[in-house]
Amino acid sequence: MRLLTRRTFTAGLAGAGLALAWSPFARAQAAGKKLVIGFAQTGAESEWRTANTDSVKAAAKAAGHELKFSDAQQKQENQIKAIRSFITQKVDVIILAPLVTTGWDTVLKEAKAAKIPVILESRNVVVKDPSTWTTFIGSDFVEEGRRAAKWLLDNTKSTTGPVNIVELQGTVGSDPAIDRKKGFDEVIKTNPRYKVIRSQTGDFTRAKGKEVMEAFLKAEGKKINVLYAHNDDMAIGAIQAIEEAGLKPGKDILVIGVDAVKGAFEAMIAGKMNVSVECNPLLGPQLMEAAAKAAAGQPLERWIKTIEGVFPAEIAAKEFPNRKY
Ligand code: AHR
Repeated sequence: MRLLTRRTFTAGLAGAGLALAWSPFARAQAAGKKLVIGFAQTGAESEWRTANTDSVKAAAKAAGHELKFSDAQQKQENQIKAIRSFITQKVDVIILAPLVTTGWDTVLKEAKAAKIPVILESRNVVVKDPSTWTTFIGSDFVEEGRRAAKWLLDNTKSTTGPVNIVELQGTVGSDPAIDRKKGFDEVIKTNPRYKVIRSQTGDFTRAKGKEVMEAFLKAEGKKINVLYAHNDDMAIGAIQAIEEAGLKPGKDILVIGVDAVKGAFEAMIAGKMNVSVECNPLLGPQLMEAAAKAAAGQPLERWIKTIEGVFPAEIAAKEFPNRKY
């Protein structure tokens, strides 16, 4: 599933006797062509996103590419503006972390018409013409949702009676929010004891996670057995709300998050969170390899999937020193 490194990629072509057939792009790439890459990032809504931005910036620097970075502050119109400005500046490749799945048809067509390959990272799009983007580098969000629910079912087997779950969804219309819900629901509906009694967006942020959890607690109080948050930041915000309501997060209310960022490990070590399903933000090196290939007109897999695990509280202290984000 991983892309070839630049060294094996070049050596492979030369070894196959294809060196003379190289396009000018591929030759330039082999000679270490420095690319100009435009990166339209969603914003800085979470610990995950900051790690993702840092990873892309560091990888571009290490590869010697120029990175034009745009922080859209969680607004799709800002991302569209950034893409148009990258097109005007004639960048070699555009990397887009799409805030939501829809609304990209026109601008992606414009990039295609300008012959600028677009790589999607961390989130995917739904467009009429899929040839307007080259590859998606990111996670299987449905599987992340399934993993969260499987952990819950496995770890509440010995309990009896109903299990009432409140859900903090990610940004409305984003594929991690849509798919993490889908995967979770798919697994919990196999057992009628489990019910999502409230579900609302917390926009992937700590502040919103806390605010919505306060409302859940007001409405449902001690009926709540489990919090499933689509990311760790919202879980961490909600933990604060649970404590302020005089309850013990991790005990009175089980707390499940997604991302496996350091903040979640700290909460697990403190006994306030029970599990975090990993979503890896360190996509920079894979993105730079894909950018070099795309600029050289080389084919790319449609989906370069990130490999991820599940981290329950029991192993948090042991794993913490190994965490990179
Ligand atoms: O697209 C990945 C998601 O976006 C992360 O899970 C979330 O924390 C982030 O903001």
